[in-house]
Amino acid sequence: MTILLRKLITAVALPIRWRRDRQHAAETLKAFSEIEFDSAWQYLNAIRYVDQPEIQLMLFGNCLEEMEHSDKFLNAAHKLASARMGGHSLARKELVRKPNDVPYFLAFAHDSERSIATQFKGYARACGKFSDAAAVFNDIAIDEEKHEREARSSLVSAVGSERTARWLIFKVKLSKAYSGWMRVSKKLGDMIFAAWLGVIFLLFGSLLRNYCRRTLLNPSRQTPQLGGTKNECY
Ligand SMILES: [Fe+2]
Ligand SMILES: [Fe+2]
Repeated sequence: MTILLRKLITAVALPIRWRRDRQHAAETLKAFSEIEFDSAWQYLNAIRYVDQPEIQLMLFGNCLEEMEHSDKFLNAAHKLASARMGGHSLARKELVRKPNDVPYFLAFAHDSERSIATQFKGYARACGKFSDAAAVFNDIAIDEEKHEREARSSLVSAVGSERTARWLIFKVKLSKAYSGWMRVSKKLGDMIFAAWLGVIFLLFGSLLRNYCRRTLLNPSRQTPQLGGTKNECY
């Protein structure tokens, strides 16, 4: 559901927003630059926990390409920006902390690269008159599709079986679907809570208004002033 919603926003709302607000397009590109940089860090970090040289080589190659993507997005952002861009502080979650995390990380990388390649193609279509930015999105999407394939073949090589690889990819999809659902339900919960508060305010606010006004204007109910005569002080 969240994927469909994201696709719809990218296809319909984003081109309109970017046509009106060039700075917003620049900010989005800068945010992608930081996501790509984090991706590079995750690949580099994973190398420390891998023994197989061919997987290490793949991880290092991807790390370099992710850094290049980060640079390309940042350059494209600077070309579009009409004002100083804000900082996007991305909270980093270390995806690999021990050798046993590597297979799940490869499954996660495979699924994420596929998803980001699809997203980038959508963003390229949304760029409209920003042809330089569209070219950056399309170029990077080609690399991400390569990363997707490489992560999958490395996963099969790491776990030694196609069946286990498929199971891990399924687990990643399940976990992402659950996180997506939790995010949507939290937002829905916040919206329902805000709507109820609005209803309560409308119902009781007008009823209590006169009572509150009378209470505040009644001198016998007002809070005594500080200070006073000498005899009143202790
Ligand atoms: Fe990338
Ligand atoms: Fe990638």
